Amino acid sequence: MVAELVNVATTLEVPPGVMKMVQVADQEVCLANVDGKCYAIGNVCTHEEGPLDQGRLEENEIECPWHGSRFDVRTGQVMVGPASKPESVYEVILEGTNILVRPK
Ligand code: FES
Repeated sequence: MVAELVNVATTLEVPPGVMKMVQVADQEVCLANVDGKCYAIGNVCTHEEGPLDQGRLEENEIECPWHGSRFDVRTGQVMVGPASKPESVYEVILEGTNILVRPK
């Protein structure tokens, strides 16, 4: 069964270039606005659980604040280690100014 979308934030809270951690069901998710398009990946770094929302967003990549792993927000793939496992990627839907995310 497909999980119901969850309303997690508004576009005013996540303007371009900004990241925000939100709770989706029991999962910590990092919203990231790249040039007006919103993406959502797991917020807990797959290396040693660093908080990705506290890192840096550069173009399509988030850099973990702890040891510098970089993840592509579009795919969750590791672009730079030491992390080796990708992040989960979540479906994001915009309804007006509301950002909806589908839990895994
Ligand atoms: S915890 Fe993120 S790179 Fe180590």
